[in-house]
Parts: sequence; structure tokens; C-alpha cells
Amino acid sequence: MKKIKKIAVLTSGGDAPGMNAAIRSVVRTCAYYRIDCIGVFRGYQGLIEGDFVPMSARSVSSIINKGGTMLKSARSNEFRTEAGRKKAYDNLIAAEIDGLILIGGDGSFTGGLIFNKEYNFPLIGIPGTIDNDIFGTDYTIGYDTALNTVVEVIDKIRDTASSHNRLFFVEVMGRDAGFIALNAGIGAGAEEILIPEENLGLERLLDSLKRSKRAGKSSSIVVIAEGDKLGKNVFELRDYVEEHLPEYDVRVSVLGHMQRGGAPSCFDRVLASRLGVKAVELLLDGHSNLMVGIVNTKIESCPIEEALKGHHEINKELIRVSDIMSV
Ligand code: F6P
Repeated sequence: MKKIKKIAVLTSGGDAPGMNAAIRSVVRTCAYYRIDCIGVFRGYQGLIEGDFVPMSARSVSSIINKGGTMLKSARSNEFRTEAGRKKAYDNLIAAEIDGLILIGGDGSFTGGLIFNKEYNFPLIGIPGTIDNDIFGTDYTIGYDTALNTVVEVIDKIRDTASSHNRLFFVEVMGRDAGFIALNAGIGAGAEEILIPEENLGLERLLDSLKRSKRAGKSSSIVVIAEGDKLGKNVFELRDYVEEHLPEYDVRVSVLGHMQRGGAPSCFDRVLASRLGVKAVELLLDGHSNLMVGIVNTKIESCPIEEALKGHHEINKELIRVSDIMSV
């Protein structure tokens, strides 16, 4: 087994608050163990183009509190090709890099796994995405901050909803997952929460809204995950509800990328710091192809392959709690 003397770190896929804290943790853990650390700009694309920068412990000062990623991120199509991955490998070897740490979501890990199969290059994944849709970790970096952002914004929307007796459809991120919608929905006191994991159907939504009126509610918030499977986008849903329940004055608010920005929460900073340490230590101990994560408050690891095959299930108890709360 080759001794690890130089580690590269990159961020890939959608940025998430706390990615900077994870970079800082990787860089400082390398400094602690007296090994070199290289930052790769723009994810896999930077790997292909050899866009590298040496990183010292001081180079990551004052980034723990910053959103986004100082290394920038990209979704690289070239890395999907054999030729692209060959360039990436050649650059890693030319720079004498012995191990790679990937901070990203499942798309980034899929690319990493293919790369590892082809070149047997040591790598460890750190889950960073606001979606929290990765198996093998209870929380991904960025998710907690995104939840807090969503709740804060819905609190503001509620002011208008109640002042004007309106029904608001608030669309939140989560391409294929309802974690943000479900948790922020409960936290913000939503009337209904529509998530891709549970297709409740349009009838059920109409019934629930009718019940709300009967129960004397003058305004309501419905939180909808962007990946919801109702078959209508949020604007079509508004039209549908206005057509069937003309007593409702409906407005739509699509929160969009604001959910990905901003200073990371304390939870995300601590999580990122813990995962970064573990990722470097796993590489130093000769491990590869693992993803680090937090399970029942403990930092653990699992094969990246397992993380990709498994499905992070939504907590059904939360759906029940949401139903009870909207009585
Ligand atoms: O995966 C994170 C995420 O923010 C999803 O929730 C969302 O669907 C997607 O990325 C948006 O991607 P883009 O930045 O390419 O618009």
C-alpha cells in the first residue's frame, strides 16, 4: 500500500452551506498530520484541466462562516467520458497526489466510483447537499442551514398570508426528495406538505383545504417539494385549486436558489468539521471508496457503492405529525 503524502480535495455538484467548513477541515487535518493538501477548482472539471492550488492551514482562515464553496463547483460533462477521466488521472499522477476527497452529492459520488473502478485511485466522499437524500448518513452538509433558511422565509410569507387571508403554495428545493419540504413544512407550520415520496393525490389536497376553511382557518401555507409527483407544477396546482375552490385567493412563491446560500448553521459547521477529519484519517489508514457520514450522532463510514444503491427513507412519523398539526 502506497503511503499517502498528498491529498487533493474538491467540491462538486450543487453547492451547499458548510462546504467551506468541510474544505477547511480537510486542509487543517492534512496540516495536523503533516501531509500536503491540494485544492481542486470547479470539481471534476478542474481535475481534468489541472486547476490545482496548494492549500496551507492559513489558506482556509475565515471561511468556516461562509456559504458557497471557495473551490467553486461544477457539473462536468467531460468527466462522464473515458477521455476526460484519463486526463484527470494523468493530472493527479503528475501532481503526485495520492488520494482524493470528494465533497458533493450522489452525482459526484457516481463519477468518483467509476473513476475509482478504472484507476483504483484512493478516494473518500463527504456528503454535501442541501437535499439530504444520501443513504448512509442521517444528515448531509448544508441540509440544516437550508431548513433554517426555508423556515425563516416562510415565517415572512405567513405575515402576508394572514394579513390578506391568502393561501400560499411555497415550492422548496429537493429534486427527488422531500426532506426539506417535510421538515421545514412542520417547522413553519404548513397546512399540507407535498413530497415526492408520498403521492397524496389532488383530491386529498382539495379535501384538506376544504377542511381548513370549515375549521375556521383564514390563511394557509402549503409546502411543495420541487420533485413532487402530483403531475402538476406549482403554478398549474394554483390554477387547479383556484378553479375547484374559488373561495381561495392563492399565491405562489418559488424559493429557489436562496435555499443554497448563506452562512452555514452551527450544526453544519460542526458536521463538516467532523466529517473532514474522518475523511482524511480514512485515507491515511489506507481506506478507499468510502463515504463518511453521521449515524445516530456518531461519525461512521460506508462503501460509496452502498450509499448510492441505498435509499434514504423519509421518516413516516413526520408525515403523521404534520397531519395531526393541521387539524
Ligand atoms: O441537489 C441540490 C439542488 O439544489 C436540488 O435541490 C435542485 O433540484 C438542484 O440542485 C438545482 O440544481 P441547479 O443548481 O443546477 O439549478
